[in-house]
Amino acid sequence: MSCERNNRWALFCIVAGAITGVLGAPSSKACKILFDGRLALSVQPADFDKNSSIYDHQFVHGENQTWAEIIKFPVVAPSMFDIPKLAKPVEVTINDQSIFLPGGGPLQTGFRRSELIPATNNGTDITVQGTTTFHWSLRTDPFRPLNFSHEYHPVWHETADFSTSEITFLTGKPFNQSFDPTVHNPKTLRLAGRQSNSPETTFFQTPFDDDIWHNFAVTLGWTSNELTVFYSKDNAPLQRVAGPSFNDNSGGGQFHVGLLKEPTGPLGIDVLTQGFQESHLNEGMIFGGVFIEDSSDGCVTLSP
Ligand SMILES: *[C@@H]1O[C@H](CO)[C@@H](O)[C@H](O)[C@H]1NC(C)=O
Ligand SMILES: *[C@@H]1O[C@H](CO)[C@@H](O)[C@H](O)[C@H]1NC(C)=O
Ligand SMILES: *[C@@H]1O[C@H](CO)[C@@H](O)[C@H](O)[C@H]1NC(C)=O
Ligand SMILES: *[C@@H]1O[C@H](CO)[C@@H](O)[C@H](O)[C@H]1NC(C)=O
Ligand SMILES: *[C@@H]1O[C@H](CO)[C@@H](O)[C@H](O)[C@H]1NC(C)=O
Repeated sequence: MSCERNNRWALFCIVAGAITGVLGAPSSKACKILFDGRLALSVQPADFDKNSSIYDHQFVHGENQTWAEIIKFPVVAPSMFDIPKLAKPVEVTINDQSIFLPGGGPLQTGFRRSELIPATNNGTDITVQGTTTFHWSLRTDPFRPLNFSHEYHPVWHETADFSTSEITFLTGKPFNQSFDPTVHNPKTLRLAGRQSNSPETTFFQTPFDDDIWHNFAVTLGWTSNELTVFYSKDNAPLQRVAGPSFNDNSGGGQFHVGLLKEPTGPLGIDVLTQGFQESHLNEGMIFGGVFIEDSSDGCVTLSP
C-alpha cells in the first residue's frame, strides 16, 4: 500500500513497502473505502437489474434495455486494483437500443448511453464530502471497437442538479474542436474539469493504446476546489500527473462509469436529439478497479 499526502505546500509519499522493509513493521493503514465497485467473480449480468446491485439498477441505459443485455464479462487479465479483491473486469456495451429516456425530458436520440452509477450515490452522500478519490481502470475491447470519429465520455461526475459535471473523462474526436483546443489526437484519454467552463480545461491527456490497462484516479476536494489526477499503465503504481489545481468542484452529485457516445454533425445542433449515429452499433469499454476512497487526510491508494 502506498500513500500520498498532499496539501498546498508540500507533497510527499510514504511507501509502506519501504518502511516495512526497513523496520519490519506491518504495512500502513489502507485508505478508507467509501464505495467499492469491484465485482466478485460470481456476479452475473442479470444481477445488475436487481435492487441488490452495488450499481443503480435502473440508470442509465436505453429505454427498452436491461443490464442483462448490456453487461459483458470479457476474458481479460484483471486490472491491478481488482487482483487483491479477486474481482473481475466488466464491459459496458452500447448498441442501437442504447437510447435513454430521462424523466421529464425527450428521448435522447442523439446519444448512445450505458453508464453505471454507484447505488449509494444520492447527490449528497459521503463520496461528495471532504476530499475523495475516484478510481477506475479501462481498456479497449478488440471485438467491440469504438469509432474515434465520435466523442465519447467513459467517466464523469455530474452535479446533483444535473446542470453540469465537475469532471469529464473523454476520448475520441471532440465534437467541438474549439471546446478542446489542446486535443489533437482523437485516440487519447483526457481528464477535463468543470464542463460549464468554455473552452474546457484539459488537465491531462495520454494516448489510448489498445489492449493494456489505463489506470486513473482523480482526487476532488469538495470544498477546497482542488483537483489532482493520477495515472499509470497495467500494473505500475499510479503517479501524480496533474494538480493539485483549481477546479470548481461544487454541486455534489453522481459518478458515471460506462459509455456516452456523442453524435457527429455540424456545430450548433442539439446533440441530445440530433446528429448522426451509425446503425448496427456494437461497441464496448472494459472497466476494472472502480472504487471511491476518503482522501480527507491525504490518503490516496497508488498501488494494490
Ligand atoms: C427489491 O426487489 C425484491 C424482488 O426482487 C422486492 O421483493 C423488494 O421489495 C425490493 N426492495 C426494494 C427496496 O425495492
Ligand atoms: C421502447 O418501446 C416502446 C414501445 O414499443 C417504443 O414506443 C419506444 O420507441 C421504444 N424506445 C426506444 C428508445 O426504442
Ligand atoms: C443521501 O444519503 C445519506 C446517507 O448516505 C443521507 O444522510 C442523506 O440524507 C441522503 N440525501 C438525500 C438527498 O437523499
Ligand atoms: C465512424 O463514424 C463516422 C462519423 O459518424 C462515420 O462516418 C463512419 O461511418 C463510422 N465508421 C464506422 C465503421 O461505423
Ligand atoms: C465551441 O466551443 C467554443 C469554445 O469553448 C465556444 O465558444 C462555442 O460556443 C462552441 N460552439 C458551439 C456551437 O457550442
